[in-house]
Amino acid sequence: MKEEGRIKSVAIIGAGAAGAITAAAFQAENYFDKIRVFERRETPGGTWIYDPDPKPDLPITPGSLPPDVDPRLEIPSSLPRITAPNQQERYAQTPIYDSLTTNVPDIAMCFSDQRFAYGLFVPHHIPRQYIENYFSAHKLDDFLVLNTTVEDLSKISSSSPKSGERWKLTLRKYDCFRHADVWWEEEFDVVILANGHYSVPFIPEVKGLKEYSEKYPGRVMHSKYYRSPLPYTSQKVLVIGNSASGHDVTTELVSSVHHPVYQSRRSKSRWDDVDPPFGIAWKSVISKYLPDGRIVFEDGTCLDNIDKIIYCTGYKASFPFWNEKANGRPMWDYEANKIIKGYWHTFFQDFENLAIVGLPRVLTFRSFEYQAIALARLYSGRNAASLPSVEVMKRWETETEENHKTENRKFHDVEWETGETKEWLQRFFAIAGLGTLTGEGRIPPVLDKDLVWAIEHLRKYPEPGKGDLIMMTRKASSSCDIRIREEDVDDWEIVEHVQNL
Ligand SMILES: Cc1cc2nc3c(=O)[nH]c(=O)nc-3n(C[C@H](O)[C@H](O)[C@H](O)COP(=O)(O)OP(=O)(O)OC[C@H]3O[C@@H](n4cnc5c(N)ncnc54)[C@H](O)[C@@H]3O)c2cc1C
Ligand SMILES: NC(=O)c1ccc[n+]([C@@H]2O[C@H](COP(=O)([O-])OP(=O)(O)OC[C@H]3O[C@@H](n4cnc5c(N)ncnc54)[C@H](OP(=O)(O)O)[C@@H]3O)[C@@H](O)[C@H]2O)c1
Repeated sequence: MKEEGRIKSVAIIGAGAAGAITAAAFQAENYFDKIRVFERRETPGGTWIYDPDPKPDLPITPGSLPPDVDPRLEIPSSLPRITAPNQQERYAQTPIYDSLTTNVPDIAMCFSDQRFAYGLFVPHHIPRQYIENYFSAHKLDDFLVLNTTVEDLSKISSSSPKSGERWKLTLRKYDCFRHADVWWEEEFDVVILANGHYSVPFIPEVKGLKEYSEKYPGRVMHSKYYRSPLPYTSQKVLVIGNSASGHDVTTELVSSVHHPVYQSRRSKSRWDDVDPPFGIAWKSVISKYLPDGRIVFEDGTCLDNIDKIIYCTGYKASFPFWNEKANGRPMWDYEANKIIKGYWHTFFQDFENLAIVGLPRVLTFRSFEYQAIALARLYSGRNAASLPSVEVMKRWETETEENHKTENRKFHDVEWETGETKEWLQRFFAIAGLGTLTGEGRIPPVLDKDLVWAIEHLRKYPEPGKGDLIMMTRKASSSCDIRIREEDVDDWEIVEHVQNL
């Protein structure tokens, strides 16, 4: 690429797994003059940072979306500036609970050039240490700007029409010595959003819920603030939701709360059998909360005298820093639950020098690696294949939205079983191609046999009808204990039978 339109500076928002691999991929190009990773927390790690005291004293606002509960901060009129420290809730803490372990086999979750300290489904501190160490191992530490929140991201016009738009970031750093917020601005050629989407908890709107939560303060909470079953000992608890959090929280509560633990399910999970496990009673979706404290379900049944209600109803993506006015449109469509004008869950139709890493709920770390390498190559001008025309990108967005609606799937879900994940990764693989002959640029990893086998055979929890799980170790490597099914034992040996995983 000629010097005139050359991309020189890159800002990455967030130092979780997506930010770490994006920084590594851009550094490996040995092309960019300035790479910065802005992270609002005190350390890299993102979702995997553990906050023992999550301070849950927020009012319950059922049905509220991030634009209401996580609005942008007021930016000082002139910068740089020092102000009194911000008091507004920014949802920077994470939802990690004490017993959380990963639910993706380590070989498929880690980046391709470095394994987790150990496997298979590991405690939460392992990915946190891994991400932190990844910055050091790749000498990316210098790029980190910690304790610094991106409060505004605005498009500015570029001096060269060939280089696309540029970006102005407004940054806020808490200065603990002066107990003040320090504000300043920086400009970049390219911005990569790696800000995650599991920060702002979502509680659905239910008739009477707001009044109920006001009448019984502290009784309703979100799983973001759950840490262990201890505070609920002997209490009568109702859990709402049946995805990963709902399953984990309900199962863990069985050991300490009043039996049964009630679990309200809208959909069946892949772990559900015909009947609920010991100590759990399934309920349908809640239809209303009555003023006398009674909870009524859609099947007409009721519950009284519940001590604690834990909403495990997920999160909503939030982009409070996105300046809608300067950038001409919002970032997220909360009705369709999707990025606006995106392409391939990564690129933008209307912003050449903006991209997002980490959005789809798929292989996480490993798929972020494909996204990051493709982007690094694209912005260094060394990409092997081009992005399609805006028309093709628009068609992709429309067709994906229609197909996913028909199939009752979320827009950013990318399935493994149908081959969709491989097709998705293949496009990044094609865009990236090889690095240079002299070694600049990371090479996109291969999806090798062991990794594919692990994804298809290793499960953290038993799935009914899919055979018993066994704790096994691979003959070739006794250091790796894993759980697989009995029918897949050819080159594996049993080390321990595991019941009730
Ligand atoms: C409870 C829970 C359990 C999970 N378990 C698994 C699992 O077992 N396996 C798996 O593969 N995935 C799991 N995930 C998904 C997990 O989110 C991904 O594994 C991965 O960590 C996402 O990385 P990320 O970098 O995209 O986002 P994050 O890890 O969320 O990192 C984003 C970073 O951006 C920072 N940030 C946000 N906004 C700003 C701003 N304005 N300015 C500066 N910094 C900002 C945040 O502080 C954060 O550090 C789990 C998620 C949750 C919530
Ligand atoms: N490592 C682990 O073991 C672990 C543990 C916890 C979380 N996680 C990860 O964390 C992320 C978030 O998981 P999550 O379980 O917190 O959220 P989630 O996967 O988004 O699940 C939300 C749950 O709430 C239900 N729900 C949403 N709106 C509802 C409504 N209006 N009424 C009734 N039910 C409603 C959903 O039902 P429907 O299915 O019907 O939509 C679903 O069961 C995921 O990536 C997950 O894998 C991992």
